[in-house]
Amino acid sequence: MNRTPLVAGNWKMHKTIAEAEEYIQALLPRVSDVDGVEVGICPSYLSLQPLVDSTRGSRVAIYAQNMHEAEHGAYTGEVSAPMLVEVDVHGVVLGHSERRQYFGETDRALAAKVPAALAAGLQPILCVGETEDEREAGDTERKLRHQVQEALARAPDDRIPDVVIAYEPIWAIGTGIVATPDQAQEAIAFVRALVAGRWPEQSERVRILYGGSVKPEGAGDLIAQPDIDGFLVGGASLDPEAFAAIVRAAVPAP
Ligand code: 13P
Repeated sequence: MNRTPLVAGNWKMHKTIAEAEEYIQALLPRVSDVDGVEVGICPSYLSLQPLVDSTRGSRVAIYAQNMHEAEHGAYTGEVSAPMLVEVDVHGVVLGHSERRQYFGETDRALAAKVPAALAAGLQPILCVGETEDEREAGDTERKLRHQVQEALARAPDDRIPDVVIAYEPIWAIGTGIVATPDQAQEAIAFVRALVAGRWPEQSERVRILYGGSVKPEGAGDLIAQPDIDGFLVGGASLDPEAFAAIVRAAVPAP
């Protein structure tokens, strides 16, 4: 199965609108001739509309970093799927480990967020991954099984191929420690097998990304693994040159 690689830059809480605009003007020429890879940028909420406007007609798609599961309501500080659709974003990152760790994001909320995003026409990038302690205790598969099954429990069967999953081991995020290609492949193949357990026909179409200290060097060895379909990039995505180099590393061999 040929899956189009996706390389998305998660800026987290970095870049003002002015900085975001300057970055996009630097990025666009660097990826304009890259074929066969989808490119995404996940800026702050405030930069969504400006970047949707300045990337229109380009190969760069804009994703939000989070959303609330309800369409509207008394949830101070939150943003809903219809609000994201109105500014024409392509998708939304859901369940990032920083949301889970610092903001109490639960698997239960994700079970509602994934179908809400799909129903609104947004592409969810669902993040899963184990801590260092869980890996050392041999609990990686149990954690991944729980996260994947809970978050996808209420997703409609026919929309499963529209979900992107990002395997981001927490011990690799922002630490400079990248999972080895074998470690990433093993975990991502396990995630694909979990999806196949419930949706045997769709699992080969689901894209599963690796995230955690991805840098231009090393990206080629990761993407060469059979189940790794791209990257969710944090720190290295803040520099347009480094991010474009990671995008280029994901171009499929002719
Ligand atoms: P780093 O690439 O900075 O490790 O961050 C990964 C990440 O959390 C992307 O969502």
